[in-house]
Order: sequence, then C-alpha cells, then structure tokens
Amino acid sequence: MTRIYWSWPLPSLLPDLAGRSIAVSGVGSAFGLAIARAFKEQGAHVFGCDVEASGLAAAAAIGIACVRVDLRDRDAARDWIDAIAAKASGLDILVNNAGGVAGQQHQPFASLGDADWDILIDINLHAAMALSRAATRHMAAAGSGAIVNICSGAALRASLTGIQAYCAAKHGLLGLTRQLAHELGPQGIRVNAIAPGLVLTGDATQRQWDAYGPEHQDAILAGVAMRRLGSAEDIARATLFLASEWAGFVTGQILSVDGGIR
Ligand SMILES: NC(=O)c1ccc[n+]([C@@H]2O[C@H](COP(=O)([O-])OP(=O)(O)OC[C@H]3O[C@@H](n4cnc5c(N)ncnc54)[C@H](O)[C@@H]3O)[C@@H](O)[C@H]2O)c1
Repeated sequence: MTRIYWSWPLPSLLPDLAGRSIAVSGVGSAFGLAIARAFKEQGAHVFGCDVEASGLAAAAAIGIACVRVDLRDRDAARDWIDAIAAKASGLDILVNNAGGVAGQQHQPFASLGDADWDILIDINLHAAMALSRAATRHMAAAGSGAIVNICSGAALRASLTGIQAYCAAKHGLLGLTRQLAHELGPQGIRVNAIAPGLVLTGDATQRQWDAYGPEHQDAILAGVAMRRLGSAEDIARATLFLASEWAGFVTGQILSVDGGIR
C-alpha cells in the first residue's frame, strides 16, 4: 500500500512571512541585522531594538523600524513589544537575539564579580524572558506565534569563551525554550532555539579567535565538518526556517547551526 506522509498541496518554496510582524532584539548586532534583513526581504514588517546607537543606525539604514531599549529594564522591554503590537495589530514572531558577552573575557571563577555575572544573565536570559512574556500575551490572543531564541553552542556544552555566566545564561535560555514550548503549544505558539557555532561578528569574537593562535584555530576548524566558521547569514536562514510555517510542527527544539561540530 502506498502511504502519503504529506498533505497536498505543498507550501510555496519560500516561507510565507509576507505581512507578518516581527520583533528582533539586539537588531544592531551582526546576527540581528542579518536576521532583520532576511525577514524584510520576505516582505515582513520588521521592528528592532538595541541599546547601542551605532547598531540602531545600521538597522535604520536598511529600513528597519527600530528604537533604543535597554532590555535590562523589564518594563521597557514589555512596553516595546506592546508598542509593536499596537502599531502592527499584533505580533507574529519574536527573535530573542540580544545578548553576547558585554565585552567580557574569561576570569577565574573564584574572583568573578557580581556585576559581571549579573549583566550576562540579564541580557542573555532575563531579557528573553521579559520579551517573551509580553509577546506571548499578543500571540495567545491571536492563537498563533513563533519565538526563536538565539542560544549558543554554550547552551549545550561548556563555552569556548570560558565565561561562566554566558554559559549558564544560554543553558537557562534553552531550558526556557523547552518549558515554554510545552506551555504555549496548545495556544498555537511555537518556541525554538538556535545554537550558532563561532561566527566572527565583531571585536569580542575576533579577539577570542586571535587568542587561540594558528594551531588551535586549525584544530577547531578540523573539528567542523564544513571546515569553515559560520556567517551571520547562516544564522538568519535558520531563524527564518524556525519562524516560518515550514517549521509548523517543530517546537521545543534547538537547532545547531555550526557546520557540524564533532
Ligand atoms: N557571534 C558568535 O559567534 C555567537 C555564537 C553563539 C551565539 N551568539 C549569540 O548571538 C547573538 C548575537 O551575537 P552577535 O555576535 O551578532 O553580536 P553581539 O553578541 O555583540 O550582539 C549582542 C547584541 O545585543 C545588544 N544588547 C546587549 N545588551 C543589551 C541591552 N541591555 N539591551 C538591548 N540590547 C542589548 C548589543 O548591543 C548587540 O547588538 C547574541 O545573543 C550572542 O550571544 C553569537
């Protein structure tokens, strides 16, 4: 007997994101810009926020509606989401991309200061919680939505950066992803995560890469199936997939976009 495992007709080749409202946090970063641009190219209405003025200018230059928000302020995070929903008559997709290492490098754990710990938990975990909580209210009212959390390989194993709070926060963000997927699935809201491998996006990642030296760099690349580092566009394409109806039955998952790390 022939079994048919798909419903006909198949969806169009491109994910149907035209006209959808999308919020991208940390829009001024390399990933944020690439993600915002990719959604915009699909005809989506893209809204971005960042704390850095230079990043906001870069996003505005490609036509993204963006505002300065310090996501350590949870009320400001909620207000940004509510303002988008009011303007766009709802919010379809949230990409929690803000985060990073805030200029930090590895420090011995015994001498780690509270302020250095707190800021990384705030920007990588608490911000995503505050934005997701606000977004969920609008998505639940519409009966659909998608949240994509930009985690890291550091959500799955020890971080190459050696930064304890970064690793802990990204593990926490993965836990939030899995928990929310179960709570929000019945309301039509999917929640997924991406684990990028190392991508040279700015000073912090370039410094990290340079510090390895040629031998360690070669060893890292030898452990990557595709034998290259990733690009911001690699991350953007995976984000589009998880946000779109192509991933309509995918939730609670973490997708490694790392070229196949051994
Ligand atoms: N580049 C990599 O190799 C890599 C690998 C894995 C995960 N990631 C994650 O991808 C995301 C983007 O990384 P990236 O490398 O493009 O640049 P990045 O790490 O510099 O991006 C962080 C962005 O978040 C913004 N941000 C920080 N604090 C904020 C705050 N309080 N309020 C609002 N915005 C704030 C920054 O201004 C910046 O635009 C981050 O979450 C990062 O942790 C990056």
